[in-house]
Amino acid sequence: MNSSDFATYIPPSDLLQNKTILITGAGSGIGRAVACTYAKYGAQVLLLGRTAAKLEDVYDEITDSGFETPIILPMDLSIPEENQYLTLRKTLEENFKCLDGLVLNAGVLGQLSPLENVSFDSWNTVIQVNMHSGFLLIKACLSLLRHSPNASIIFTSSSVGRKARAYWGAYAVSKFATEGMMQLLADELENTSKIRVNSLNPKATNTPMRRAAYPGEDPGKNPSPEEIMSAYLYLMGEKSTGITGKSFDAR
Ligand SMILES: NC(=O)c1ccc[n+]([C@@H]2O[C@H](COP(=O)([O-])OP(=O)(O)OC[C@H]3O[C@@H](n4cnc5c(N)ncnc54)[C@H](OP(=O)(O)O)[C@@H]3O)[C@@H](O)[C@H]2O)c1
Repeated sequence: MNSSDFATYIPPSDLLQNKTILITGAGSGIGRAVACTYAKYGAQVLLLGRTAAKLEDVYDEITDSGFETPIILPMDLSIPEENQYLTLRKTLEENFKCLDGLVLNAGVLGQLSPLENVSFDSWNTVIQVNMHSGFLLIKACLSLLRHSPNASIIFTSSSVGRKARAYWGAYAVSKFATEGMMQLLADELENTSKIRVNSLNPKATNTPMRRAAYPGEDPGKNPSPEEIMSAYLYLMGEKSTGITGKSFDAR
């Protein structure tokens, strides 16, 4: 299959029934749309993000629609301490028998400028949020993902994580690392588990991050997060069983 198959994919309405799926950066942009869409297709979603008020807003949208009650997990992924990930692991293992999906979506842009002008502080934050947190979240979630009969991990990539572009600094480097981590984990798990691991590049999507990166652009020229959800449904649902270690574009 390839990315163009996503556009024609029509998921059944119970695609994610009885699934438990954790989404990072679930409070806004693409992560919010993923959480609401997965809930609509039957999943219980675990909403992880930095700003509790945004997560509560997503919670309200999901419960007001009559979908499975979500769980809110406020967590600042820029904090470079393993302890909070160990606490998360404990919380998850005490409350859930398994995890059926993990969408590593949270991300920050950092400074867009020549590499020599990027501050070390900005570099560190981007690498921590976009890369180190993915590693630590995998460590926190893997045992529960192994307990699922058919789990899917989706890493969030970017075009600049596949072909670098001047001035995209730590963001581009972190997305190259994301692709590398995806390939490495997929290779490790392919013959030892039922977990599939892939990366998805949303491509230009009308979100706060895109608008910050391209302030002069007409935001309306890019699709909304809701318009790219068939890729996220395909990769989380049964149809992608057996597909692992691949890099996809959402459209
Ligand atoms: N939009 C695009 O055109 C595009 C293109 C390629 C790739 N992507 C990727 O798609 C993903 C989602 O981006 P988006 O466009 O939806 O951006 P967004 O609207 O800015 O959303 C980013 C999300 O990440 C969360 N986040 C940021 N820092 C965090 C931290 N320290 N701890 C916990 N959560 C944190 C944010 O939470 P708060 O709101 O609470 O800060 C927010 O929910 C990112 O990985 C991005 O790199 C986007």
